[in-house]
Amino acid sequence: MHNIVLEDTRNIARNLGDLVQKFEGAKVLITGHQGFLGANYVALFHTLNQEFLKKPVELTCIDSKIVDLEDHTNEYLKDARVLYGDALEMLPDEKFDYIIHCAGIASPTFYRKYPLETIDVNAIGYWNMLHKLDPENLKGFLYFSTSEIYGDPAANQIPTQEDYRGNVSCTGPRACYDESKRLGETISVSFAKQKGMPIKIARPFNVYGPFMRLGDKRVIPDFVKFAYEEGAIKMFSDGSPTRAFCYTSDAIEGFTRVLLIGEPGRSYNIGNDTQETSMLELANNVSELVGDVEVSHAESQEKDYLTDNPQRRLPNLERARTELNYTPKVNVKDGLERIINWYKDTYNLQKKETVS
Ligand SMILES: NC(=O)c1ccc[n+]([C@@H]2O[C@H](COP(=O)([O-])OP(=O)(O)OC[C@H]3O[C@@H](n4cnc5c(N)ncnc54)[C@H](O)[C@@H]3O)[C@@H](O)[C@H]2O)c1
Repeated sequence: MHNIVLEDTRNIARNLGDLVQKFEGAKVLITGHQGFLGANYVALFHTLNQEFLKKPVELTCIDSKIVDLEDHTNEYLKDARVLYGDALEMLPDEKFDYIIHCAGIASPTFYRKYPLETIDVNAIGYWNMLHKLDPENLKGFLYFSTSEIYGDPAANQIPTQEDYRGNVSCTGPRACYDESKRLGETISVSFAKQKGMPIKIARPFNVYGPFMRLGDKRVIPDFVKFAYEEGAIKMFSDGSPTRAFCYTSDAIEGFTRVLLIGEPGRSYNIGNDTQETSMLELANNVSELVGDVEVSHAESQEKDYLTDNPQRRLPNLERARTELNYTPKVNVKDGLERIINWYKDTYNLQKKETVS
């Protein structure tokens, strides 16, 4: 296991404290395990089984590979059951204690390519999946919504709290993602209410960290890729939009708190509210960490890259702090250093020498 992943998973387990005992001998299903967050959960359960639990978690994983990037989970899955196909259709006919529904298409480049599959995994197929599910032993089901359900919030709604209703286009290029997550939340709330199912909803705000693959097309891997492969970072905006980035060890701890002690049918913002970072600041941070790389502006080849792109996104974390005892701890500089080290080792990156 990469030393950063090992340290991160140990930190998550320690920060969760006694809560991890809830996983003692549990049957857990992770959908979308090859993706960014799914892979982080696979690594977490590996560490829990090795070091924290007396009776290991029995893990089942399913991924359709629609996001066709490389897989980094193999080494952690020797004792797990791994299935390939559509999680919405091939759900094993058995009782799980916990289900972590990471299946999705999270990167805008990929969801603009597969809008129908995106709507399916977030809402339509999700509805069918819940109908098929045997909830007898189920103690927690984690539905991943998104901060994108708020769309482009009005200025007086930033930081954004959970009861803000959003400002979202239902037909724009991001609509397949944003609107289906909104319906996914409605489905989750309704199954929790009418069928008593323990469905918990997390709204992640711009998570980054190990297992976010270099070809993922989200901004942090893009900047790192440009810095190493081209010796110059290209920003596809004017550098002014801001995000509050949340490192994986904080985010996974927060999501797990939602799963284990969140209220069914209730949504929780999970992110880091301590630092709002503009794209220019982010590019400069990456440049400094990689070693003095030039930062410039360029047009994206994707014509819809900036359409409906929110200018600011910042969570209000009051609910997660008071109800779940969640506190993010990792600042952007430290988190970036960790992810860049993971990228360097995983992809064998070397800085390109610039010829003057
Ligand atoms: N990472 C973030 O910052 C973030 C932010 C907001 C919301 N989310 C949500 O969290 C979830 C996980 O995000 P991620 O970043 O790991 O996404 P990801 O795109 O990196 O990975 C998702 C994985 O799910 C798989 N998948 C897609 N449809 C499937 C299906 N029908 N059956 C089985 N597997 C399927 C894909 O092949 C991929 O491996 C998604 O629902 C995403 O929308 C993530």
